[in-house]
Amino acid sequence: MRIAVYGASGFTGRLAVAEVLRRGMTPVLVGRNEERLRKAAAEAGGGDVRVAGLDDPVALAGAFGDCDAVVNCAGPFTSWGETVVRAAIAAGRHYVDTTGEQRYINRILAAYDADAERAGVAVVPGLADDGGPGDLIAHLTAERVSPVEELLIADMRRPGAASRGTARTMAEVFAEGPLDYVDGAWVPAGDDAPASLAVPGADEEVPVTPFPLPGVATVPRHVTAHRVRSVVAAEVAAAFLALTPDVVESIPETPDEDSRRAAQWLMVAQAEDGRGGRARGWVTGPDPYRLTAVIAVEGARRLAAGEGRASGERRAGALTPAQAFDPADFLGFLTPHDVTWQVTGP
Ligand SMILES: NC(=O)c1ccc[n+]([C@@H]2O[C@H](COP(=O)([O-])OP(=O)(O)OC[C@H]3O[C@@H](n4cnc5c(N)ncnc54)[C@H](OP(=O)(O)O)[C@@H]3O)[C@@H](O)[C@H]2O)c1
Repeated sequence: MRIAVYGASGFTGRLAVAEVLRRGMTPVLVGRNEERLRKAAAEAGGGDVRVAGLDDPVALAGAFGDCDAVVNCAGPFTSWGETVVRAAIAAGRHYVDTTGEQRYINRILAAYDADAERAGVAVVPGLADDGGPGDLIAHLTAERVSPVEELLIADMRRPGAASRGTARTMAEVFAEGPLDYVDGAWVPAGDDAPASLAVPGADEEVPVTPFPLPGVATVPRHVTAHRVRSVVAAEVAAAFLALTPDVVESIPETPDEDSRRAAQWLMVAQAEDGRGGRARGWVTGPDPYRLTAVIAVEGARRLAAGEGRASGERRAGALTPAQAFDPADFLGFLTPHDVTWQVTGP
């Protein structure tokens, strides 16, 4: 199986190329800079190199033409993602990406559903360590509550180990402000979100701040809920708020390997029925960037192999992770990578 990685010269892209090789598949490294792509291929120990900039959609679609799926790692996606989505659809290839950008995900899911369905491909934005497991655990948590009056998604990782690319992206995302989903529409987030949240392993509730997470865009597409909103740990929000352009450019391109491996991600979902019934789910794992590569590459592989949701479900269109893949099965695939998860209640 051949997996195209767009932005293969970047930090996340290089990890995705390494993961494609580790899984015994062939990576096709695509991007704008031949020298950086060749260096990435040499470091990874294999892979074809194809140069295609975002200003040349024909070359881009051509670069994807003989691949089975595309993993897009070139961000900020708000700026660069849509061109790659269009090229993948034009080439008739499945598409996943590693974005965490809430409004971009919302736009792609709305704008490309019909085109992707017509082309017979799945477009799954936000298949990273936050938007992937976050969407899957929210689905499993919401299944325990009926009706779902309120669904809260929280990214409760501690600050640390972010790449310059992530910092650049998060500075843009933070400026856009979070959305809530209320009564069938996406609206600017209200100011009545909870101020703190219980977290597995912590004795006391942790302060949280509203933040634009992927789940607000994805979860309402497979869970019927009155309201969906999202928060992050307040200390992480404060770190993003401090990201001026000068600060972003002073951050190393890649976090050092020890702190990257030591970092832990944690997604929490809480579903309430408005009558006191509450279910909670969480999923956690190590090494956020390597796990992002593991998650995105497995998603692309499943789509290309026809191992998405069972027949009868939608296999083509712009889909969320929980629409494209069986949630418990996909999370189960991650357990050998030291990912653990649990759903309790009500
Ligand atoms: N949601 C999550 O949890 C999660 C996890 C991991 C990554 N991400 C996201 O993934 C993105 C990449 O992060 P990173 O740390 O890998 O960043 P990075 O090291 O800066 O890599 C960015 C990649 O995008 C390419 N690129 C940038 N602008 C481009 C343009 N105009 N045309 C063509 N290619 C362009 C770069 O190509 P050159 O090498 O030619 O510059 C490079 O390959 C960020 O948006 C980050 O937020 C999200």
